[in-house]
Amino acid sequence: MNGFFYKDGVLHVDDVSLLDIEKQFTTPVYIYSKLSLSNNYKALEEALENKLGKGHPKLIAYSVKANSNIAVINVLKKLGSGADVVSSGELKRVIKAGINGEKIVFSGVGKTKKELSFALDSDVMQFNIESISELEILSEIASSKNKKAPIAFRINPDIDAGGHEKISTGGSNTKFGIPYKQAVNVYEYAKNLPGIKVVGIDIHIGSQITDLEPFKLAFNKVLILYQKLIENGHNIINLDLGGGIGISYGENFTPFDINDYADLIKEKFGSLECKLIFEPGRYITANAGILLTKVIRNKESYNNNFLIVDAAMNDILRPALYDAYHEVITVVEKKKEQEVIDYQVVGPICETGDIICRKASLSNIKDGDLLAVKYAGAYGAVMSSYYNSRDLVPEIMINNKKINIIRKRILIEDLISYENIPD
Ligand code: LLP
Repeated sequence: MNGFFYKDGVLHVDDVSLLDIEKQFTTPVYIYSKLSLSNNYKALEEALENKLGKGHPKLIAYSVKANSNIAVINVLKKLGSGADVVSSGELKRVIKAGINGEKIVFSGVGKTKKELSFALDSDVMQFNIESISELEILSEIASSKNKKAPIAFRINPDIDAGGHEKISTGGSNTKFGIPYKQAVNVYEYAKNLPGIKVVGIDIHIGSQITDLEPFKLAFNKVLILYQKLIENGHNIINLDLGGGIGISYGENFTPFDINDYADLIKEKFGSLECKLIFEPGRYITANAGILLTKVIRNKESYNNNFLIVDAAMNDILRPALYDAYHEVITVVEKKKEQEVIDYQVVGPICETGDIICRKASLSNIKDGDLLAVKYAGAYGAVMSSYYNSRDLVPEIMINNKKINIIRKRILIEDLISYENIPD
């Protein structure tokens, strides 16, 4: 069951009324359901275990960039999750949330020496390497610590994952990975470096992928490479298949079923003895969160019905950055007979692009009404900023009817206190 539902005409999260939450906290505020987070994780785990068998070695390494609040990471950690991190900041978060190095994968196209060194000290299970120079530097640092860094190369298979170009990563015109044709050679080179131990292959072709076809094509390329590397004497024990599983944002279409994804994994990799690593982000957290916001003002202008709300593009950037759709619903359920109006839900920021939803069909809305921006649990709070000198939005997690503040509102006064007027 999804954690957000109407009860007695009011939107609830895990049985807590959003009207009650609003009485205690000022909007805008992110609200997560611990139940939904857990259910999403378990749904993926169960689908994989049903197809691959419970004993098949695997690791779900939650991709922390989707929602890096330590409380969220900790919920997943308790379910057995590992983590995919892309900076020392994310690494610090997952360590704080209780995940050990042996379940941490370090990804990222521009890791600094300092970050590589910190990750080596944290004994991460795998570095996903994206260039020869990164490999050489890692080897040097590892050797100086008398260590061997476990590595996989992130291979760029030159496959278009579909979806928005800003989040597609597997094509030949992106900065990511090692070109597929060079893969065999880079593995040969890595074999002889003193501070390196080759352990795996990694791919990640993009995000919000809603069709299985690009995965199929990419996995085929991984399999071909795997066979060649084994023939060449490499000990490939990990296959990191990346993230990217798409979800519905409330539009009228359904992405592939998670069981079909698991079927594909079984078909391609089920007979191999490698540990299969998955790096889901959005699939785990997106529908486990909403952004609660209040209407400041109704405004009609020319033929538009604007709802100016107290959340803005600094709080939820996806619609402005990717033209992404997030369904917006009212906290008080619309009655069936009520007339519907098409609104543009916009924020108070001084930019035309400060749009939260281009078309929300809602019943007659009054100033002060509460709205929920759905599917905001992934790439929501993590991408927020204080543009227009607005506070940084707080985060709340509901756990068994209990309201937990998991990030306090960061006030503009706090941020100003870091600034200084020189003499
Ligand atoms: N692994 C790697 C190496 C990644 O770069 C990403 C996401 C993931 C895993 C997780 O992907 P997911 O399962 O969440 O699709 N801000 C954009 C999404 C950017 C994704 C970046 N990489 C958005 O709001 O749609």
